[in-house]
Amino acid sequence: MNKVLVTGGFGFIGSHIVDTLIQKNYEVAIYDNLSTGSIGNVQAKVTPFFGNVEDEVLLEQAMDAFRPDYVIHQAAQVSVQKSISDMTNDARINIMGTINIAKLAHKYSVKKIVLASSAAVYGNSDVLPITLSHVPSPLSPYGASKKTAEDYLKLAKELYDVNYVNLRYSNVYGPRQTANGEGGVISIFTNTVINKERPFIYGDGNQTRDFIYVKDVADANVRALEYEGSGTFNISSMTSTSINQLFTIIQSFGSHLISPIYKPEKNGDIRESLLCNKATIQELGWEPVHSLETGLASTYEFYFNQQHHSLPATVLDSPSHRLKPTTLSS
Ligand SMILES: NC(=O)c1ccc[n+]([C@@H]2O[C@H](COP(=O)([O-])OP(=O)(O)OC[C@H]3O[C@@H](n4cnc5c(N)ncnc54)[C@H](O)[C@@H]3O)[C@@H](O)[C@H]2O)c1
Repeated sequence: MNKVLVTGGFGFIGSHIVDTLIQKNYEVAIYDNLSTGSIGNVQAKVTPFFGNVEDEVLLEQAMDAFRPDYVIHQAAQVSVQKSISDMTNDARINIMGTINIAKLAHKYSVKKIVLASSAAVYGNSDVLPITLSHVPSPLSPYGASKKTAEDYLKLAKELYDVNYVNLRYSNVYGPRQTANGEGGVISIFTNTVINKERPFIYGDGNQTRDFIYVKDVADANVRALEYEGSGTFNISSMTSTSINQLFTIIQSFGSHLISPIYKPEKNGDIRESLLCNKATIQELGWEPVHSLETGLASTYEFYFNQQHHSLPATVLDSPSHRLKPTTLSS
């Protein structure tokens, strides 16, 4: 049975990757510091390790104990705003964390690293959809740190022959997402509709985004592991949806008609964002299978159930079993 270490596996996207890996009979370990992730996101049997990815010593203890065949690297500082207010911390986690992964992957003969990168590496583009030939020009330290992390993996391939796949995600959404991440607008809209509150829309709401359902992203990660080569790919639905259209769909799941409150556009907000996924479909044999409507309906159902049922806490969730982030355990 092939072994996969998922960094950030207790987070939103990482936990769905863990679910897909378990379904496909991989043996899974998670390395996470629980800064934004939650143990309750993972119900499957996994080996947990707790630590920061920028802590090379703890990360090596986990690699040495688990000896993974593959590493799926999701752990990151994920907030664009925080990257602007603290560039150093963003770089420490996103760049140094990835360098640690690359060095240890070489030392422990890992077959491949799959990196969670982002559309943020591209910056603005006049030509849409953005293809892989668009020269990246990030607009934030977060975009720059993701681009640098990608570059280090390319170097690790050239210098140490460690295989890699960089996956540049568009706006990911789905169950377990918190409002903090890059694609948080859907979790915010969904919760306001459930609570019959009016959400804020910044600008006229005609700005567009390319939303991709988290289970499609999880599938792309597993296909990237199984892909023969190394390379960089966009992970997107290649469908433009305006913020107004998005709100209309989510609103249709609720019981009340709610009108959003329009606020001035946020500084630096990209008007249109659309990523080309043709090369990904061709090379990885991956294709998004969830439509926006079905993905949004499942997401609505998840938040609705979360708010209307007090689900029994799992043993791991209870405070006495909550492990400290700095404790290494397996
Ligand atoms: N959500 C999106 O729309 C989106 C878009 C593009 C790229 N991404 C990338 O996808 C990955 C997963 O993002 P997500 O949305 O699931 O976010 P998330 O915050 O839910 O997940 C991040 C996980 O990493 C862990 N983590 C954070 N810092 C860590 C550190 N220093 N050491 C160890 N663990 C750490 C967190 O506890 C969490 O479990 C990130 O790399 C993010 O940059 C996300």
